[in-house]
Amino acid sequence: MNDGAQVTQGDTQGRRSAPLGTVLVVIPTYNEAENIKPIVGRVRAAVPEAHILVADDNSPDGTGKLADELAAADDHVHVLHRKGKEGLGAAYLAGFRWGIDHGYGVLVEMDADGSHQPEELPRLLTALGGADLVLGSRWIPGGRVVNWPKSREFLSRGGSTYSRLMLGVPIRDVTGGYRAFRKETLEGLGMEEVASAGYCFQVDLAWRAHKKGFHVVEVPITFVERELGDSKMSRNIVVEALWRVTTWGIGARVERLRGGRKS
Ligand code: GDD
Ligand code: MN
Repeated sequence: MNDGAQVTQGDTQGRRSAPLGTVLVVIPTYNEAENIKPIVGRVRAAVPEAHILVADDNSPDGTGKLADELAAADDHVHVLHRKGKEGLGAAYLAGFRWGIDHGYGVLVEMDADGSHQPEELPRLLTALGGADLVLGSRWIPGGRVVNWPKSREFLSRGGSTYSRLMLGVPIRDVTGGYRAFRKETLEGLGMEEVASAGYCFQVDLAWRAHKKGFHVVEVPITFVERELGDSKMSRNIVVEALWRVTTWGIGARVERLRGGRKS
């Protein structure tokens, strides 16, 4: 592990150089029937050596069954069927666990709706060659969003800024969901203790990686808003994120004060 986290924006001059293992792209799904085939096809075309795990929360629209059909026809596609909707974070954690248990060396997060373009994945993986964690970033030079309503952009930028200030993480896009982890990073950041269910899971993991001193690199991406299906973002998810980030931030400050008094 590295001493002291370092965030590099843009291209990486990383310190990690151990070879990358086999890549598993984890795609959580809840009602993504229109999107699942196209996204799997795009990942297979963009990074043919990578494997895919669809982590489906028993979608009522039959996404899980469609994923099974894809898996039956392609040995690089796998499906993790979960009991019911438990949130994006829980689905990712189960997917990561499955991937690590099956011997994958790199775990990638990607939405099913096309917002994270598989064609950009090779760039993320190249950056991971010199990093412990690569974050696809909308809010660094070269990054952008396409077709996002102003309200969502405001929420996302605001969420990132608030988290950065509250937690002191030097990351511009801390809520983003297009990421590549080395297996060792997930194992080292205490993945099993993560309780965040919704999208603040993203902040949680980035903050943990930073605190543990992992080398985190942001790479610009173009985030394209979905054309088909619906976002699962809700008021509850925003409230969970706000609540947790605020509690973590206060907790960390109290910790620092206590530590300061002792020394
Ligand atoms: N299995 C499972 N269970 N999958 C879920 C769940 C769930 O409870 N909730 C959402 N998903 C899946 C969706 O089906 C999709 O593939 C992916 O997670 C992202 O969900 P969206 O609903 O499309 O998210 P978004 O576009 O609003 O938010 C994106 O941007 C945020 C940052 O602004 C995501 O990338 C978030 O991770 C990110 O924080
Ligand atoms: Mn989306």
